[in-house]
Amino acid sequence: MEQVKRANWSSQLAFVLAASASAIGLGNLWRFPYLAARYGGGTFLFVYVALVTTLGFALLVTEIAIGRRTRQSQLTAYSRLKGGWGFMGVLSTVVPVLILPYYCVIGGWVLKYLVVYAQMAFAGASPMGAAAVGSGEYFAAFIGASAEPFAYGAAFTVLCAAVILLGVKNGIEKSNLVMMPVLLGMAVAISAYVFFLPGALEGVKYYLVPNMDCLAGPDGRFSAALLGKTLLGAMGQMFFSLSIAMGIMVTYGSYMKPGDSIEKSVRRIEMFDTAVAVLAGLMIIPIVYMFAVKTGTPVKEALDAGPGLMFITLPKVFATFGAAGGWLGLAFFVLVAFAAGTSGISVFEACVAATCDVMRIRRRTATLLVGGAAVALSAFPALGYGVWADVKVFGQPMLDFMDFLANSVLMPLVAIGTCVLAGWGLRPAAIIAECERDGVVFRAKRKYSFVIRYLAPFLVVAVLVSEICRSLGIGGWSI
Ligand code: PHE
Repeated sequence: MEQVKRANWSSQLAFVLAASASAIGLGNLWRFPYLAARYGGGTFLFVYVALVTTLGFALLVTEIAIGRRTRQSQLTAYSRLKGGWGFMGVLSTVVPVLILPYYCVIGGWVLKYLVVYAQMAFAGASPMGAAAVGSGEYFAAFIGASAEPFAYGAAFTVLCAAVILLGVKNGIEKSNLVMMPVLLGMAVAISAYVFFLPGALEGVKYYLVPNMDCLAGPDGRFSAALLGKTLLGAMGQMFFSLSIAMGIMVTYGSYMKPGDSIEKSVRRIEMFDTAVAVLAGLMIIPIVYMFAVKTGTPVKEALDAGPGLMFITLPKVFATFGAAGGWLGLAFFVLVAFAAGTSGISVFEACVAATCDVMRIRRRTATLLVGGAAVALSAFPALGYGVWADVKVFGQPMLDFMDFLANSVLMPLVAIGTCVLAGWGLRPAAIIAECERDGVVFRAKRKYSFVIRYLAPFLVVAVLVSEICRSLGIGGWSI
């Protein structure tokens, strides 16, 4: 067995692009717009940006610095840093291992819709007609069909594996150079198209103008509980969206060169990720808003979060555009496929890097192993709405349960561990020293120390408690 030389990103920009590509994903497209519209538009955006630049900043800096200092993936990095912390490596590796199979299944759903809209756009018709695709039944029939969702999920996994097989520089970096500009270009083009549709401005206002109604209780007075919900909603979103506590940023950091600035890179990743989230809202909210007004549906209801928005509501809206709907749908699903693809690649890479570091095998072998395991495990989420629909874990379909375990339990635990390790175990000076290697300036180091020691642990514990209460339906925390 051979120990292979660790790969490096070819430049700081390549790292920023790869980390942003991981960050920009379904969270930006199907969760952010919904949360923003629901929690007071501009008010939510303001809270979100405040959190990203403090809590998100500190956690991202820490994970990247840990990866770069140890030059290890998350699995082995923590124990190298400090004895007794190996359990963090295991915890933060379980997260991508859990996410990969079901993320690939959702990626498969996106591929399926991409194919359907391509047929509609080019052949002028879908196999069933645009209106039928927009009916809730179409989506339910597809995910209930078992074999088809499994096959599409496997296809998505194979595509990600192909990129990973080509390596960090030739695979991940190069594919980002194509996918990221296309993604951004499409997002700008679609939101511009939507912006100039008659009546769109009302929807834009609904989305962006700060509105304090979201903080008013039933009696019309300010409600602290609602403020808490807004904060927690923004925090949960931030974790997921910045790919924090998934092991990914440690692995990606391990390929970063010492002279590159971690601080500047993190600022750019945050800007990029937030910009795409805001753009996603500009694409989606005005058309859903207009559709809701036209059909007399309450806007909040029409703006469902998650799969319902992407695979049911939006296809319904596209069907109202006539022939243009096929093209709009195609452009939209190409964008979504790229966003999901680049995130899928990053989660796949975190699993491959961990396998290489612990088994000391070649990337190629590790990729095939991880890919095979991911396809096999994806049977659970893929068939969980079909032939295995009766198999429920704590009352939830398997995909939902895997998502709950990773996002609501393990990720907050990893984040708490990261804060305690960096803030108290190692002390912030160790992370700051890594950021300042080779004479690089770390301007926000005082802010960093304060956030990682005091603010972040407090906020992350709040997220953990609220996520668990929300899932168990305790205390009306549902968002
Ligand atoms: N950050 C991604 C998003 O916003 C989430 C993600 C990344 C999920 C990587 C899985 C893997 O959608």
